[in-house]
Amino acid sequence: MSPKGTVVDPVVDFIQTSRDRYVTELTQYLAIQSISALPAYVDEVERCAGWTAGELDRVGLEHVRLIETPGNPIVYADWLNAPSAPTILFYGHYDVQPVDPLDEWDSPPFEATVRKGEIYARGAADDKGQIFMHFKAVEACLKQTGRLPVNMKMILEGEEEIGSPNLGGFIRAHRGDLEADVLIISDSSMFDRGVPSICYGLRGLVYLQIDLRGATRDLHSGSFGGGVANPCFVLAQVLGEMKDRGGRIKIPGFYDEVRPLSKEERSTFARLPFNERQYRIDLGAPKLSGERGYTTLERLWARPTFEINGLLSGFTSEGAKTVIPSVAMAKASMRLVPDQDPNNIAELFESHLRQVTPKTVTLEVTRLHGGKPWITQLDNPFVQAAGRAIERGFGRAPVFNREGLSIPAVSTFQEILGIPTVLFGIGLPDENAHAPNEKLDLGNLHNGIIASTFMYSEIGKLSG
Ligand code: BES
Ligand code: MN
Ligand code: MN
Repeated sequence: MSPKGTVVDPVVDFIQTSRDRYVTELTQYLAIQSISALPAYVDEVERCAGWTAGELDRVGLEHVRLIETPGNPIVYADWLNAPSAPTILFYGHYDVQPVDPLDEWDSPPFEATVRKGEIYARGAADDKGQIFMHFKAVEACLKQTGRLPVNMKMILEGEEEIGSPNLGGFIRAHRGDLEADVLIISDSSMFDRGVPSICYGLRGLVYLQIDLRGATRDLHSGSFGGGVANPCFVLAQVLGEMKDRGGRIKIPGFYDEVRPLSKEERSTFARLPFNERQYRIDLGAPKLSGERGYTTLERLWARPTFEINGLLSGFTSEGAKTVIPSVAMAKASMRLVPDQDPNNIAELFESHLRQVTPKTVTLEVTRLHGGKPWITQLDNPFVQAAGRAIERGFGRAPVFNREGLSIPAVSTFQEILGIPTVLFGIGLPDENAHAPNEKLDLGNLHNGIIASTFMYSEIGKLSG
């Protein structure tokens, strides 16, 4: 017994004394520039897969493999020496988002820097820091006890941030080897500081590029203005046809498969510690906006959206230029909710767009990526076991929340393998994933390593 009256747990003890080493090692991992979206970084992505494989080997996992795909390699390792215990399939990603705008970073994105108990670097929260948490949990168990309380299969991919184009094929090809009882993913956020959570729903996604072309070249707006269409203006008009002022999407059939929010779920959302005013202030937005008739959490978690992610056309440098641009381009995406299907929605969007686009321009639509929405029941024993572990690790029972974001892999795994998923994320909503100054709270990382070891033992107690 320790002075506080608790039994000294050798695994927890190992974790407590490894704090500084964890920061040193994570700093090395975060130094690798594994940006999957930019072809120039393909060697760094490759190197990151290698580092990940080396790490899985160092922590004591077996059968470590680097598996080539048509894109970036998938890293696999396992530990299957607990014959009567359940098997966890753990999934995460070692690729990261681009870092631009670089000048908004307070410290270089690939030189991890600790300030006030937070580690700043691209990938700190999404997702290297969170997969590292499990590497260290596995390490602590294997180094201190020589075994894991469960069987473990780990898959780390390098293409999550570009929509996981090769993961489905990989899972289908290896479905026999990937058999497991539960899928665990740490690639999401806690509800708030000090409020650990289990996420039970994610939105899906469709991402597209729209190209409009008018005349074959830019034209003088004085000589030609009024006599020929301006693609930039047409683009603004057709995008305006996608959503009304009340935030409702005008694509015919768009809402047909949307699962309405139940009364119970609405009241559960309403009981969560969420302050709309504070949320607005933190965002620095003059006023919140969204679909009429829904609260902010409902809009974020359970309602679909249509967004314009970027626009490009015409003259945008300093000063004025009287010109009619010949082309206009938009990147647009829709977040989807159960039971909307990304392919179906992409088709509805495209036919509506064709309908509202005048013949004065040509239209090209390119689908970039997408994924299905996901929602799960909370009453399965794995979710309950994870809940107990999080309570032991963080000293507070988790809340159950949905998320507005997407992890396309979740529904892919669920469809092919038919197993339940537990999303145990330790990021925070303000940790700047995908943005400058991405960071991870080291206290959460540390508690998360402990909670992960508890999660393995809680799941180990269930029958395999
Ligand atoms: N880790 C995020 C998703 C996430 C973050 C879920 C926080 C829940 C809470 C993931 O890496 C991500 O960025 N997903 C993309 C998917 C896209 C690139 C296909 C997204 O949601 O935009
Ligand atoms: Mn992620
Ligand atoms: Mn991401």
